[in-house]
Amino acid sequence: MNLYCSYYTKSRYITQYMLDRLSLAPGQLVFEPSAGDGVFIDEILEKEPSVRIVAYDLNPEAIGILGKKYRGVENIKLRQADTLLDSTLDQLARKGGVFDRIIGNPPNGAWQDYDKRKVLKEKYQGFYVKETYALFLLRCVSVLKKGGILTFIVPDTFLFLHRHTSLRRFLLQNTELQEILIIPSKFFPGVSFGYSNLCIITLKKSESVDTALNNEVTTIEGLIEESQMDDIRLRNNLGDFSVETIKQNEILKSASSAFLIKSDARIRNLINHPTCTVGDIAYCVTGIYTGDNRRFIRVSSKTVRGSKDYDVVPADRINYEHRSLEGISGHNCFIPLTKGTSENKYLREGFSWYIDWSVAAVEHYKTDPKARFQNPQFYFQRGIALPMVKSRRISATLMDNSVFDQSIVGVFPKDERLLHYLLGFLNSQIARTILLTINPTANNSANYVKKMPIVIPPIDVLEEVDELVKDIFERVRKKQSIDAIQTELDGIFEDIFEQEPMGPAKGLLIPRRMSKGPESTLGPLPLPFH
Ligand SMILES: C[S@@+](CC[C@H](N)C(=O)[O-])C[C@H]1O[C@@H](n2cnc3c(N)ncnc32)[C@H](O)[C@@H]1O
Repeated sequence: MNLYCSYYTKSRYITQYMLDRLSLAPGQLVFEPSAGDGVFIDEILEKEPSVRIVAYDLNPEAIGILGKKYRGVENIKLRQADTLLDSTLDQLARKGGVFDRIIGNPPNGAWQDYDKRKVLKEKYQGFYVKETYALFLLRCVSVLKKGGILTFIVPDTFLFLHRHTSLRRFLLQNTELQEILIIPSKFFPGVSFGYSNLCIITLKKSESVDTALNNEVTTIEGLIEESQMDDIRLRNNLGDFSVETIKQNEILKSASSAFLIKSDARIRNLINHPTCTVGDIAYCVTGIYTGDNRRFIRVSSKTVRGSKDYDVVPADRINYEHRSLEGISGHNCFIPLTKGTSENKYLREGFSWYIDWSVAAVEHYKTDPKARFQNPQFYFQRGIALPMVKSRRISATLMDNSVFDQSIVGVFPKDERLLHYLLGFLNSQIARTILLTINPTANNSANYVKKMPIVIPPIDVLEEVDELVKDIFERVRKKQSIDAIQTELDGIFEDIFEQEPMGPAKGLLIPRRMSKGPESTLGPLPLPFH
């Protein structure tokens, strides 16, 4: 295990960009809170040799090496200490901060034992302590003096995940965020976070909450090549990137104060001021966990993706008729299970997975401490299966007469007449953009799906979508391409969302639209509104 989480910054594109953002001036007091092998210190000394540097690292070896490297350099003070807990830094924070500049690549998720986590929870109350980099941000803003500048390279998850809401609110109210540059984690040699990007955040500690809230933050994304960091640094070809400016107050007031950077203003507005969300019109729930999948789950054949460790179920042990939460006492006690991703959108090709539904197994799911017999009222119901793990495209499929497991978010419309519409929507391009905006990481959890804005169109459009989705079912069954119809559907959903007014529409829109269309055979739907 990498105990100190010490992936050092090797890319000069990154260090040079960061140094540039830091705007060093002679004689300033600079803090490096997680110095490692001193890559930032070297750059600082090269650029502005007259600054005074204080560098911390928890790892005695790193401090030892730095000691040798900078022997005789008088303007560097090294300390082997824990930046998050050190009492000298506590005192400096109480004074309102002393450092003019702070630069760092803080440890990300460094290992903390249980006791340390307890201490951190106590010290950083109300903040999420398991991701160390987030605490480094907090801590370092507290020791930065007003008007001072900080530049950090960190994962971008604090910009949008629920668990970092308090950190976002703290930053939005106490600092002027100058620039947030999103970069793929592959730019960072040695680490690939996979699930998230990295970002370089540059901020100034604010004189007042008012100044902070009135500040406009610039976010930049869309870099493909590492060398493009020079374009950003030198302000060349900015048109090649997605550059946005947003007022901090607007972010603060938005849902969970999240930075919705992966989208244009229209999508952001829909997410922040939805007239209706998927959670309003459908139950969004996760399914069962057996506690021991290898023991209780079987596969139809060895060709099923991800089936390596599972046994194949003998045909005579499968039961397609069973529809109840009661266990089966006979030999044919394996029933269909919807699980994992699907090759197709709209319809899965038969069942690939089966779950032991014997009396003893069901009893196990209900009583084993590791198992989760969750949301059983939805098992066997008609709904939509949305895989938890995002793939290149969303593959939402119809689900009926099966149990589903926790790799699936089950979406069950409160009014069955919205089933096909919702299925079409979840498979659309715009739904993907919305979901990626709400949470760009690899997971769709029920909570994020619930928050997706949805527009219920006039009845005639609803019926049109219904027909197209039925056409798609036919085509999937005949193994024909659905691309043309999907493109048509994507266009229809774009139009539907285009017509949604910007800003908080107070929920009047849907009933008015729903009552339109006397030619419709459907009556107005009883939808819940805000
Ligand atoms: C991601 S490395 C960055 C090193 C260097 N700044 C760079 O960019 O190459 C993080 C460093 O933080 C140190 N570290 C981890 N936890 C720390 C803590 N609580 N206080 C101070 N330093 C810590 C590690 O030992 C490691 O050297």
